[in-house]
Amino acid sequence: MNMDTPHWWQTAVIYQIYPRSFQDSNGDGVGDLRGIIRRLPHLVELGVDALWLSPISPSPMADFGYDVSDYTGVDPLFGDMADFDALVEAAHAANLRVILDFVPNHSSDRHPWFIESRASRDSPRRDWYIWRDPAPDGGPPNNWLSVFGGGAWDFDAATGQYYYHAFLAAQPDLNWRNPQVRAALYEAMRFWLRRGVDGFRIDVIWHLIKDDQFRDNPPNPDFKPGDPPYHALIPLYTADRDEAHEVIAEMRDAIKSFPEALLIGEIYLPVERLVAYYGRDLAGLHLPFNFSLIGAPWRAAALKKMVDEYEAALPKGGWPNWVLGNHDKPRIASRIGRAQARNAAILLLTLRGTPTLYYGEEIGMTQVEIAPEQARDPCARSGSGRDGCRTPMPWDGGPHAGFSDAEPWLPLAPDFKQENVANQRDDATSIYRLYRRLTALRRQSKALSIGAYRPVAATGDVFVFLREFDGERIAVALNLGAEATAVSFRFGGLTGRILVSSMGDRDGEPVDGDIDLRPNEGVVIACAV
Ligand code: NOJ
Repeated sequence: MNMDTPHWWQTAVIYQIYPRSFQDSNGDGVGDLRGIIRRLPHLVELGVDALWLSPISPSPMADFGYDVSDYTGVDPLFGDMADFDALVEAAHAANLRVILDFVPNHSSDRHPWFIESRASRDSPRRDWYIWRDPAPDGGPPNNWLSVFGGGAWDFDAATGQYYYHAFLAAQPDLNWRNPQVRAALYEAMRFWLRRGVDGFRIDVIWHLIKDDQFRDNPPNPDFKPGDPPYHALIPLYTADRDEAHEVIAEMRDAIKSFPEALLIGEIYLPVERLVAYYGRDLAGLHLPFNFSLIGAPWRAAALKKMVDEYEAALPKGGWPNWVLGNHDKPRIASRIGRAQARNAAILLLTLRGTPTLYYGEEIGMTQVEIAPEQARDPCARSGSGRDGCRTPMPWDGGPHAGFSDAEPWLPLAPDFKQENVANQRDDATSIYRLYRRLTALRRQSKALSIGAYRPVAATGDVFVFLREFDGERIAVALNLGAEATAVSFRFGGLTGRILVSSMGDRDGEPVDGDIDLRPNEGVVIACAV
C-alpha cells in the first residue's frame, strides 16, 4: 500500500454503535436511526471518522439483529429506509463514513429463503441452507456443536432432515457452496453500497464454509469442565476452512465497482491464522479484525510481545487494526479497571493501524450488572450473557440519562448521574477529554496515523514504543502498574515534550532524558530528533 495516498480507512478511527442502545428518538426505550442522527455531533466532537452500525435490517431479534429476515430493509424498530438515507446523508455531510454490519453466514429462520427451503426437499431453495439426513440411529448427522451451546443440528420433522446452525436454531446457516446464495448476498451488498454505504463489518466470516464431507470435529484435549460447552471440540471442520479465502476474494471482486468500500471481517483466530484473511496478494479483507487486545494480559511484557508478534505476522502491505471491545465482550474498563482504561485508550489510538472504538469506551463505561429477570441476550440462559456491555449510552444525568423518554430496554449504569458524556465534557481531566485529545493528535501527526511502529522496551510495568514518519518521532510510555515509576530512555536519551498525558495535566511539559510516571499514567511525547 502506498502511504503517500492512504485509503480513507487507514487513517480513520471507527466507532461502533449498538443501535438499540445509542439514542432513542420515539420514546419506545430502544435506540433508533433518528436518534443516531441526533447524536452525530458527538461523534464529530469525539473526533472519529466512521461509524459502524450493528445490524439494522428486519429481524425477529432472536439475536438482536444478527438474525436477518430481509437483507435489504430496515427494521421498523429502528426506522425506515428514508431514515437510513437521511442518516447516510447527515453522516457524510459531517465527514463521517457509514459502515454496516453484514451477516451472511446465517439468516433468520423467518427469512423467506429459509421458509421456502424448509418447505420441502424439492424446494428450489432447499440447497440454500445446509440440510443432511439423520445418522443411522436417527440422531444428528455428526458431532458439530453450536457456538451458543448444544448441538448445531435441528431436526425438521416435516421433511425428515436436520439443518445446521452455528449459532441459535433460529439462525440457520446459509450454504455458501451454492453460487446462487453467494450471488444473492453480493447483490445485497451492492444494494447498500449504491445507497452510499462506505463498507461492511462482516459477521463471523471465518465460519462461512464448512467441510463438504461433514467430518466430525475432533475433541479438544485442553477442554476443562466449566469451559463453554462449544470448546469441547476443535472446530476443525466447521470454521477457518481454506476455501473461505476463495469466497472472500470473490466477495471483494463482486463489489469492485466501489473501490473505496471497506471490508472488515469478524474473526477470532490466533494471529498466524488471522492474517491469512488479508488474502493472497491482499485480495481478501482490508481489515481482518484484530481482537488480541480484548483478551491480552494487562502487563507490559505481554502487551509488547503481542504487538510485536502481530506486527511481524502481517503480510507485506497488510494494514493493522486494533479493538478494545465490542457488543460481545466485557467492557475494557471493567476488565482492566478505570485507571488503566486510560492507558488502553492511549494504546488503541497510538498503535499502528486503524482503531475501532465501541460506544461508551470514550467515557470509560463499565459492565452493568444485569439481574436474571432483566436479561435479554439469548446467551444469558447459559450464563454467558452479553447484556452487560450493551446498556444504554449515558448522555447526561437527566431522566433515563438522556437516552430515552421511556424506560430503556436494558438498565442504565447505576452511576450514570456522574459518569456521563455531559459531565465528562466539562471535566478537563476526564477520559472523554483524553480520547478527544488523542483523536485530534492522531489527525495532526503522520507518525501516529501512518508512521512505523518501533518497539523499545517492556521493563517492569512500563511499556515504551515509538512511532516514526520522516522526521517526526513520537514516544509512548505507559505505566501499567499502580506504583509510581521512573522511565529512563536508553535509546539515546530522550528529549522533547509531552503532547498528551492520561490525566490531562502535563501537556507541554518538557522531557529531558528521564521521565517520572505516576501510578497508571501514560504519556505521549513528541521527541526532538
Ligand atoms: C457475532 C456477533 O458479533 C454476535 O453478536 C452474534 O451473536 C453472532 N455473531 C451470531 O451472528
